[in-house]
Formats: sequence, structure tokens, C-alpha cells
Amino acid sequence: MQATVTQTLTVEQAAQQRRSIRKYRSGPIPHADLERILDVARRAPSAFNVQPWYFVVIQNPELKNQLMQASYNQAQVGNAPAVIALVTDVDRVLESPEAISHPSWGDEGRAKTRATVENLFAGQTFEQRNAWANAQSNIAFGWLLLAAESLGYGTSPMLGFDGAKVKALLELPQSVQITALMPLGKAAESGLSPHRHALERIVTWK
Ligand SMILES: Cc1cc2nc3c(=O)[nH]c(=O)nc-3n(C[C@H](O)[C@H](O)[C@H](O)COP(=O)(O)O)c2cc1C
Repeated sequence: MQATVTQTLTVEQAAQQRRSIRKYRSGPIPHADLERILDVARRAPSAFNVQPWYFVVIQNPELKNQLMQASYNQAQVGNAPAVIALVTDVDRVLESPEAISHPSWGDEGRAKTRATVENLFAGQTFEQRNAWANAQSNIAFGWLLLAAESLGYGTSPMLGFDGAKVKALLELPQSVQITALMPLGKAAESGLSPHRHALERIVTWK
């Protein structure tokens, strides 16, 4: 896979410098860069390796404009060259639970994994299983943000949208969840420097 970006940031550098970007330069993002970012996110860990996440990459200007309207007209959705919707879909996991079984476990592992996953979700309400799966997808979301930053792209993590409208626009069933939207592109503003709690405030050493 050939990407246009040759220099990448370390995880530490990307975490230190990333901030929300809400104005982007126009012009398409090379497909190879988008694939490279998504390829990092898909490697995130999840409980039972369940990987309930799916990505929809929106670059069509008309659709982006409609998404912006479904996102309370937040301009970054319209002016970013691409928006990635992170979708959590438990039903899709349940369609082929054995797909998450490690190849080294063989047929027995596949059968066991199916039983484990079916059992896990069977004991939960629709809301519980969605909340559980959404927590897994948010790990991939963090990786997605850092991957984009490390390849030189600004991002805007977003929860400010009407989920039902976004699902309808993306032709997704209402049973899925839109875990987050992530507009991305080359930054056309510097954004606010990161402002976070100091370690002393949030860490207890025992
Ligand atoms: C899950 C999540 C949802 C967010 N939703 C929105 C949003 O809808 N609109 C927006 O302008 N910023 C949104 N933000 C951006 C936050 O306000 C921002 O990350 C936070 O203030 C820290 O600033 P920084 O990202 O520049 O470091 C969201 C951030 C996260 C992590």
C-alpha cells in the first residue's frame, strides 16, 4: 500500500500535538492515506476481540453537506474533505462470531467463540449490548484520531449530530450506533493548544 506521507509522528508526538481542527484546506485526501489511517484503527483491541466497529468514509460533497445539516450545521463536517463515521453494529458481529476466533484455535475455537459471543449478548438488553459495544468502538476511535494526526491530518472528534438522521443518510439500519463522526483533512487553522489536567491531578500512585 503506497501512501503519500513519508514522515509520521510517534504516538507520543501525535498525542502531544493533536487538537480539534474545524477548518480544513480543500482538495481530496489521497486514498492511500485514508486506508493507512483506517488500517491503524482496525488494529485496536476489544473485549473478546469482538471488533464491533465499521467505518463509512464520506467524501461526496452533496452527502457531506447533508451530514453537516444532520450535525446541527457544524461547519467542519461540510468543509473537511472527508468525514469518517465510526459505526458500531452488534448484529453484524453476531452474523459471524467465529470470524473473531484466532486462527490458531482451529474449529474447536471457532465453535467456542461463537458460543461465548452469543452468550455474552444474550444476557444483555438492546441498550446494554449497545453500550458495551460502543465502549469497544471508542478504543478504535482513539486510535483513529492518533493515526490521522501522525500522518499529518487534522481531525475533529464529534458527537454533536442527530444519530437517526445520520443513519438514514448513510443508509444504515436504525439498530446500529453512530459512535462518532470524525471530519479530517489538512488543517487550515492552528486550533487551540491542548489543555489537559496535569498528571498530579488524575494519577494516584500506590
Ligand atoms: C467524543 C467527542 C465528541 C465531541 N463532539 C464535538 C462536537 O460535536 N463538536 C465540536 O465542535 N467538538 C466536539 N468535540 C471536541 C471537544 O470539544 C474537544 O476535543 C475538547 O474540547 C478538547 O479540545 P482539543 O480536541 O482541541 O484538544 C468532541 C470531542 C470528543 C472526544
